[in-house]
Amino acid sequence: MRWFTRTAARLGAVPLIITGLAVLGPAAPSAVGASQPRIEKDVFGSTPDGAAVDRYTLTNGRGMRVRILTYGGIIQSIEVPDRRGRTANVALGFDNITDYVESSPYFGSITGRYANRIANGRFTLDGVTHQLALNDGVNHLHGGTVGFDKRIWRAAEIRDRDAVGLELTYTSPDGEENYPGALDVTVTYRLTRDNTIHVDYRATTDAPTVVNLTNHTYFNLGGEGSGSIEDHRLTLDASRYTPVNDTLIPTGAIDSVAGTPMDFRRPTAIGERVRDGFEQLVIGRGYDHNYVLDRRDDTSLEQAARVIDPDSGRVLTIRTTEPGIQFYSGNFLDGTLVGTSGRIYRQGDGFALETQHFPDSPNQPQFPSTELRPGDTYRTSTTYQFSTDRG
Ligand code: GLA
Repeated sequence: MRWFTRTAARLGAVPLIITGLAVLGPAAPSAVGASQPRIEKDVFGSTPDGAAVDRYTLTNGRGMRVRILTYGGIIQSIEVPDRRGRTANVALGFDNITDYVESSPYFGSITGRYANRIANGRFTLDGVTHQLALNDGVNHLHGGTVGFDKRIWRAAEIRDRDAVGLELTYTSPDGEENYPGALDVTVTYRLTRDNTIHVDYRATTDAPTVVNLTNHTYFNLGGEGSGSIEDHRLTLDASRYTPVNDTLIPTGAIDSVAGTPMDFRRPTAIGERVRDGFEQLVIGRGYDHNYVLDRRDDTSLEQAARVIDPDSGRVLTIRTTEPGIQFYSGNFLDGTLVGTSGRIYRQGDGFALETQHFPDSPNQPQFPSTELRPGDTYRTSTTYQFSTDRG
């Protein structure tokens, strides 16, 4: 709680949007082209129960195009140039609403109210025990049966001097998915001219509750459907992580990564040690772990992860105000989903880096608090900056 209050106070005082105009290089040649930033809206489809889903296309005039759906606040595609200026969509997803509704493993979505797992779907707040849906074996995952990833968000377009964006809002009624308190949520996406997607999360409640929001984009910097991400080189700014039990709930320990295949403090190929037989990787069927970020303080936007695709030269740098990041190496992709460009997704064909508070925090008092109380404002920010290794 105190964490959010401090965050709110401090973040309010500094501009969250780094325009980066001073550091802009020459416009990247690409199919998307060099032009003025713009935002366009079209109809993506309707859900099976008849709700219309809009799609917004954000173009930054510097080679990037991002598509966002009002369903789940989903980032449907992220088109980015490679080192030779050739554009590809680096976000896994679908080309139709039905697949998102029926079979998406959270592709691109806003996840909440509580991203990641809560043990046995149960927590106690102010002496009251709340039982949530068990939608991941014996645990609660990503907000339950109908989480924020399956809600229709209200959208308002943003046109700033240096960015185009979308402000998405959703009011989650008291008791929705058995969480206490009515929660007003605003998630703002901005695409700036320095090829960065800024995501700002804000929430307020009318009764004590818990909140943990993230975006669940799966990336493949070679382009979705282009094959494995095991050659991508990952750096995580984390010397510790939270080991998990066999249902992927943190044991409560905070372990050092040193001397283990969990160590990504130097750029290392994702696949290099994933078959080492290290117990945590056996449990997760690969990487599916929360890393404790090495932060200077608990409020500023600091680098959490950097991923380089040696083939295309695309580089993704993630910065966040959050204390943790879940690194998921796409272990449950099993060849049953057909992605946006018509190719199937197999295990390890995408990775997720979910900036967040730690899993199961409501039951782990030693973890940073995820409680939110009336009068306080939950605020977190994450940025995804795209560049290439030659520019
Ligand atoms: C998160 C979880 C994974 C998996 C994916 C969605 O990353 O940690 O275990 O559930 O979401 O498939």
